[in-house]
Amino acid sequence: MKGRFITFEGIDGAGKSTHLEALATWLRGKGADVLCTREPGGTSLAEQLRALFLSEPMDPLTEALLVFAARRDHLRQMILPALARGSTVLCDRFSDATFAYQGAGRGFSVQTLKQLEEWVQEGLQPDLTFWFDVAPEVAARRRALARNADRMERMDDAFFARVRSGYRIRAESYPARFVRIDAEEDIQTVAQVMIAALDTHLW
Ligand code: TMP
Repeated sequence: MKGRFITFEGIDGAGKSTHLEALATWLRGKGADVLCTREPGGTSLAEQLRALFLSEPMDPLTEALLVFAARRDHLRQMILPALARGSTVLCDRFSDATFAYQGAGRGFSVQTLKQLEEWVQEGLQPDLTFWFDVAPEVAARRRALARNADRMERMDDAFFARVRSGYRIRAESYPARFVRIDAEEDIQTVAQVMIAALDTHLW
């Protein structure tokens, strides 16, 4: 049995986490076994790395090493076993975020990120990626209404414009698994787009 690996991506403030929960509820209603998880995080070790990542200043290589270390543990302990059981894994961010944030956002070497990706993921890519695309100014207004901002959420619109362009490059590189969603649409419209994408891409 092989499960499905679905990831949710977008700049901070795109609203992806809300849509992840809505899709999980819908899939469970259909009888699917669903695991909801996030990156960096998902295991005890990876959550500790996440706390460091979001709070301590560090250079882009250290950022990349931390998120890939967290990802390695998360894959081995949670994602791969769940997929082997036949579960549907909904993951709030995965390595596209590293290419968008550390690669495009920080300007760190994409070649080095590709090497790390190969070591850590050994060829594994999501079956389907929902990219919640939104203008940096709109996302900034949403973030301003939310809880206290962490180290990344405090970055300016120019940074998030670069991150957004990083996602666009990844979407163009992996057109078969990427589905772009206009993150300004209402929750029902987004749900319909996601469900239609499951039909055409996975089932
Ligand atoms: P979250 O707020 O969506 O849970 O994500 C945590 C932050 O970490 C978010 O600002 C994006 C950032 N991040 C990276 O910079 N690189 C990565 O590889 C991942 C997974 C997240």
